[in-house]
Amino acid sequence: CFIGVDLGTSTCKTLALDAEGGVVARASIDYPLVTPRPGWAEQDPQLWWQATVETMRQVTARLEGWQVQAIGLTGQMHGLVPLDAEDGVIRPAMLWCDQRAAPQCETITERVGGLDALLALSNNRMLPGFTGGKFLWMAEQEPDAFARLRCFLNPKDYLRLRMTGVHATDVSDASGTGLFDVRRRRWSPELLAVVGLGQAQAPAVFESSEVTAGLSTEVARLWGLPAGLPVVAGGGDAVMQTTSQGVVRPGSIGVTIGTAGIVGGAAYACPDNRDGLLQVSCGNAPDRWHVMGVSLNAGGSFQWLKETLAPLAGGDLSFDRLAALAESTPAGAEGLLFLPYLMGERCPDIAADGRGAWIGLTRAHGIGHMSRAVMEGVLFNMRAILDLFARSGLDCERLRASGGATASPLWLQLLADVTGRPVATVSGASEGGAFGAALLAGIGAGRWASLDEAVGVVAQTRQIEPDPARADLYDAMHPVYKTLYPAMEATFG
Ligand code: XUL
Repeated sequence: CFIGVDLGTSTCKTLALDAEGGVVARASIDYPLVTPRPGWAEQDPQLWWQATVETMRQVTARLEGWQVQAIGLTGQMHGLVPLDAEDGVIRPAMLWCDQRAAPQCETITERVGGLDALLALSNNRMLPGFTGGKFLWMAEQEPDAFARLRCFLNPKDYLRLRMTGVHATDVSDASGTGLFDVRRRRWSPELLAVVGLGQAQAPAVFESSEVTAGLSTEVARLWGLPAGLPVVAGGGDAVMQTTSQGVVRPGSIGVTIGTAGIVGGAAYACPDNRDGLLQVSCGNAPDRWHVMGVSLNAGGSFQWLKETLAPLAGGDLSFDRLAALAESTPAGAEGLLFLPYLMGERCPDIAADGRGAWIGLTRAHGIGHMSRAVMEGVLFNMRAILDLFARSGLDCERLRASGGATASPLWLQLLADVTGRPVATVSGASEGGAFGAALLAGIGAGRWASLDEAVGVVAQTRQIEPDPARADLYDAMHPVYKTLYPAMEATFG
């Protein structure tokens, strides 16, 4: 069997897959997110390692009679693990959701000569969560610590270091540093230099299914596995989630509605990231690129509504109850619109200071309308990201959906109605990134010849067609939704 480890922001999940993609064992362990100041987000890599050791122990304990053939890694992207000459962690890891380096990201953009010059180098903006800005922040705010930096790693690659002793990453996670030449699949020497780094400080880069190194004798003994067991490169979690959906070729696009929303697709050639509104990274196969738009406000907006209203409902308002109220309200919520930018926004608008709003309230509107408008607003936002995909030449006949919200039939139906596209749910995607990481382990171990072959184990579980009348209504409403943020931008911030 093949093991996948997913080092998330709140949970480490480990699972083992058989040669047909069936789950043999799984385990997960949570760890805290530390916010020493507003806008900061840190974690102690030691806790990641402890959670990995324990979930691996639990999974391997259930694998009697199985022969583990390889391990694949995935995890939260963009985090910075700074290492000294002895591979000691210099300071706690700064994570993807840490906003402190926003000014440094602007400095980087200026130093390379502006946005167009940056896009020519990396094909991405330097977003505040990206790794790149964090180096400059360290250099400015913690110069002694920065002077000790000998190598940097992204979160999942710290697990690899502990497992194998090597400094290595994969092309998709490297893309999320903002210092990687995504078109050529190699570090950008110019961008490394701009943040004060040399090539020697960057980890070696592998394609996602390549074997990076073997498990050390000491760690192998901990888990009862053979020393030298191949550890494949793996990939960043947002890219891997799309791989877990089986979306590795153009034609269908993956939509993940968790707290945040990810719209992700695959391309055979690296598309130009016009205005840098999307995130373009290398894909999990050597001849693929991955395009995504990450909205910070998806299921999280609905959760906010639930938490806000729960005290009025005696404290136990369920998602199902809220969805039932939305369902009994006419499509379009009788003219009520919701802009879901409760946490600012990354895509379809770059709106760090954005805020949420209901627009068009009347005395005829009640909680059902508000609930429906929140769902529709979140999905209008997903559709706006799909419009950006179309502008970049990524066609999309159908969607594959995953994420917590897709357990709800109403969310799935509305996704089909608002986007006007058939929506499928698939096996595997519900397991998250660990599933894709285990598939890559399978490729590294020779079970599958390619990613296209490996995702053959991803089976469709449901297919939802858009309702023609509602789809027409949403077609008419969407251009109106798209005017909301530009119209209100000046009132925020
Ligand atoms: C992707 C992103 C998140 C993190 C955390 O760009 O910021 O998906 O990877 O999971």
